[in-house]
Amino acid sequence: MLDKSATLDESIVNQTFNHLDGITLKSSDTNILHVICEHAQTKLMPTSLLGFDIRVSSIADKIPLEANSIIIDVDLNNTDTLAKLAAFRKNAPSRCKQIFAITKGNLQEELQARTLGGRKTIYRPLGDSALAQVIEELRALSGMPVSATKKAVNTAAKTLEHTFARFGANQPVDLGDVASTGEEIANTIDGIGVNEWLSTVRAYHQTTFQHILIVTGLACSFASSIGMRRVDIEKLTIAGLLHDIGKVDIPAEILDKPGKLTPEEFDIVRTHPRAGYRFLAKQEGISEDVLDAILHHHEFLDGSGYPDGLAHDQIRDLTRILTVCDIMGALLERRSYKEPFTVAQSLAILLQMARKGKLEKVLVHALGKALENNVNSILEKPDEALIALAPLYLSPAEMP
Ligand SMILES: [Fe+2]
Ligand SMILES: [Fe+2]
Repeated sequence: MLDKSATLDESIVNQTFNHLDGITLKSSDTNILHVICEHAQTKLMPTSLLGFDIRVSSIADKIPLEANSIIIDVDLNNTDTLAKLAAFRKNAPSRCKQIFAITKGNLQEELQARTLGGRKTIYRPLGDSALAQVIEELRALSGMPVSATKKAVNTAAKTLEHTFARFGANQPVDLGDVASTGEEIANTIDGIGVNEWLSTVRAYHQTTFQHILIVTGLACSFASSIGMRRVDIEKLTIAGLLHDIGKVDIPAEILDKPGKLTPEEFDIVRTHPRAGYRFLAKQEGISEDVLDAILHHHEFLDGSGYPDGLAHDQIRDLTRILTVCDIMGALLERRSYKEPFTVAQSLAILLQMARKGKLEKVLVHALGKALENNVNSILEKPDEALIALAPLYLSPAEMP
């Protein structure tokens, strides 16, 4: 007999558990993680992650008494801060889970957190990975199932693992599998929004496939925000998932090198679009647009890109879109040698590249819109110092 409970909607399950807990709360009340900081630093923090909203406030603000889960990231040696925390903790309901952020290896902070009654600590910085760890525990404590976003990210990563292994073994890839993974990513992002997708990818895939999952997510979001036809969305997501398959043969020491590449190393990096193209062109059933996007995703409108130095109309529309998403992805990623740029900072850098004639400005604006950012305000006040530094932070493989 079919187990009907298996088909229950996640929100109904959550509400049931809240009720069983003896605390009748709306589901949304329990899915908020409050972060209390010294100066309300939000640079690295996502706004939502794994089904939780993340609300950041300053220690100077009123700490919300109704909160169920709080991360306290403050100076534990400041007397004023401690007094404020003590007042909050005196009135906070016992169900409120309080977690202290400390610096790894700082025994004094660890002791202080324990003295303050914190049963749990996490290490700074409060980026996607640290927050995901906390939220997973909160979900488990509340009896919530594994987040659907996490499942979708893991499934997509598995497909990439198989697909990229096929390149290494010189065997044809399963294009049907790649297409359905693209469709699942597009559907997931339609449901949860691209920002949640980006945070989850950054929390779970720090290295190999992070870039591809971020670029494909951006491409899906871009496509749906401009109302692209279904057939083109499919092409764009397949191109996103396969665009860097030619990097399989490039040594990680070169791809992840934090410093400047030697001319010889850069020549090796520049082989990946053609290597990917040659491998996939042997297969039947792959569209010309997808092949072109793979071969030419490092071309620029001013002819300064590679491998063919194409310019203007020689670069197809789909390829131009993938290029913008590709660079945006590199900027938003966490790498061994850099923290992620914010969306606003990344857009400022893309706009600067558009001003120099490398990218199409209208596409950068459209991507900004897809990410719900006001590009105009960035245009009015670009952060020149940041833009000047940008090439140092881009992966050598994504550098113009
Ligand atoms: Fe690439
Ligand atoms: Fe790429």
